Order: sequence, then C-alpha cells, then structure tokens
Amino acid sequence: MNQMHLELCSSAEWADTVSRFIIPWVLEDLDLGDNVLEVGPGPGRTTEVLVAMVPRLTAVDLDEDLVRALRSRLAGPTFEAVHGDATDLPEEDGTFSAVLSFTMLHHLPSPAAQDTVFSEAARVLRPGGVFAGTDSLDRPEFRELHVDDVCVPIDPSTLGDRLARAGLERVQVITNEFGVRFRGWLPAG
Ligand SMILES: C[S@@+](CC[C@H](N)C(=O)[O-])C[C@H]1O[C@@H](n2cnc3c(N)ncnc32)[C@H](O)[C@@H]1O
Repeated sequence: MNQMHLELCSSAEWADTVSRFIIPWVLEDLDLGDNVLEVGPGPGRTTEVLVAMVPRLTAVDLDEDLVRALRSRLAGPTFEAVHGDATDLPEEDGTFSAVLSFTMLHHLPSPAAQDTVFSEAARVLRPGGVFAGTDSLDRPEFRELHVDDVCVPIDPSTLGDRLARAGLERVQVITNEFGVRFRGWLPAG
C-alpha cells in the first residue's frame, strides 16, 4: 500500500466506517461458525472488530511489518496473525468455517490472482463454510488513493460467475453506492 492508503486504513475514521457500516453489511445474517480466517487484514481495523465476535480468528497478510504489529496489538489465545499469501495459503484443506476478505481483493495484481484467492478460500473452507467479503467500487476517488500502487477493482457483474468457478454455491453479489458485497458457500458434501 502507498503511504496515503496505509494512513487511511489505519485511521480512526476508517475504524468507525468499518465497525458501523462495512462489517454489519458483510456479516448480515451470516453464521461464521467457530474458526474464521481473514485474508488481507492490513492494519487491522476489521480484525479488531472480528476478534471480539468469533471464537477463533486467524489473519493472513502479505506484509510482514503489518503482521508483526497485529500480533503484538491483538495477541490472545483466540487470535493468530500469519505472514502469508492469500493466493497460496499455508493452512490445510477444510480448516475454516468461514473465510472473510475486506477491501483487499483490488490489491491483487490481476483478475487471475484474485481467482486464485477465491480457489484458495474454497480449498481451506470446511464443507458448508462461507466465503464472504467486500471491496470498493471502481471510482475516480478510489483510483486516486492508489497512485503508484496496485489497483485492480472487482467488476460486480462478473464476480458471481468467478466465485462459482472456484467451487462456491448459493453465490450472492450485491452493491451499494460504495462497494460490492459477496458471499458463497462450499457445498456441504
Ligand atoms: C487495503 S488493505 C485492507 C485492510 C483491511 N482489510 C481493512 O478493510 O481495513 C489490503 C491488505 O491486503 C494485503 N494483501 C495484498 N495482497 C495480499 C495477498 N496476496 N495475500 C495476503 N494479503 C495481501 C496487503 O498487504 C494489505 O495489508
């Protein structure tokens, strides 16, 4: 992330937006189960809310410094921060009851890399588990935040098919003024 983006994602304003709007929208009516993975927690404004909501949370991020900071800030028996790549997750098949992704998919360098994240999410889910998340819509202000940074926005019109190709079923994709919300379940078996 560039410095401006990092500062925004760490800010009290973003924490407020995450806790009041983004997390309630993404988790609306979802049962996350007992073992949840978050990919791309960044500075952890989403993570600090999730850790209080679920019995066990693992957060995987590519940025080693951010992972180290999360480890010391949110240390506890129900939380683990892992340095890893969401396109090649270190976790075993069928580990998690839910996989969550908040405002991170556009940081993957290509749609193909995003599709690999979807496949990896499906691989580490238990049968019946849910992959859910959100990302921002492609708007000029959003692009401005990503000068000299990776920015591959998600196209909501193709996202449902892409999630289904990763092996998820009952896929739902909706948008609001700011973002796209998605969810899909691994078949129960
Ligand atoms: C914009 S931040 C998201 C912050 C947080 N989820 C939120 O909503 O506040 C995007 C994060 O995704 C991480 N990321 C990018 N590519 C990744 C990958 N392949 N695997 C894991 N994390 C990745 C970046 O390091 C960054 O911390």
